[in-house]
Amino acid sequence: MGAVVLTRERPLSDAPIRVLPPNEAARRLDELAALLVDAVESGASVNFMRGLTPDEAAGFWRGQLPGLADGSRILMAAESSGRIVGTAMVTFAHQPNQPHRADITKMLVHSGLRRQGLGARLLAAAEAAARAAGRTLLVLDTESGSAGERLYARRGWIKVGEIPNFSYDPDGRLRAATVFYKDVQP
Ligand SMILES: CC(C)(COP(=O)(O)OP(=O)(O)OC[C@H]1O[C@@H](n2cnc3c(N)ncnc32)[C@H](O)[C@@H]1OP(=O)(O)O)[C@@H](O)C(=O)NCCC(=O)NCCS
Repeated sequence: MGAVVLTRERPLSDAPIRVLPPNEAARRLDELAALLVDAVESGASVNFMRGLTPDEAAGFWRGQLPGLADGSRILMAAESSGRIVGTAMVTFAHQPNQPHRADITKMLVHSGLRRQGLGARLLAAAEAAARAAGRTLLVLDTESGSAGERLYARRGWIKVGEIPNFSYDPDGRLRAATVFYKDVQP
């Protein structure tokens, strides 16, 4: 996306959110990559440093494809004007003694479309997908003080605590992370 101007025929509140099948994710790696680059360029702590290239970002998503194909993770995607503008990934714990647990990662909303409720809808969709798959204990971490932290708290996630100096933000400053969990049993 980056330099692409986002125009909308419909309000963002109508943007469809669905499970992106692995073959479609493979076909749309460039859009997923652009979304990840946009997040890093906006200063978000999403495991990468500033300067992430579209090729590197595509490599990250390519690495998720086997998990999408074998059913060990689910990628939710939001679309607007035919482009992927938001994601949330549910990764099932692989440990035999945690068949009820999953991690939520890559909660991303394009920087030009934030603060309109799409993040909250994506998170709700990811929680519902996890619950439908029998994963009722969800875990995630996020940069302390970030928009993500406010979003998770607002949606009823429980703050476990904060880990100081957990990771570098894209500009090389060490940041704390806040760990959350949510029990989504029906
Ligand atoms: C975290 C992230 C996914 C949230 O996405 P989002 O679409 O902006 O989320 P929402 O719109 O649901 O909520 C964000 C804010 O907008 C506000 N908001 C929601 N709808 C609104 C509306 N219609 N009008 C005005 N404000 C609105 C919310 O109250 C919230 O306010 P807050 O920041 O003061 O808490 C997004 O900021 C992002 O992609 N960040 C970069 C990547 C990242 O850090 N991800 C988390 C990693 S774990």
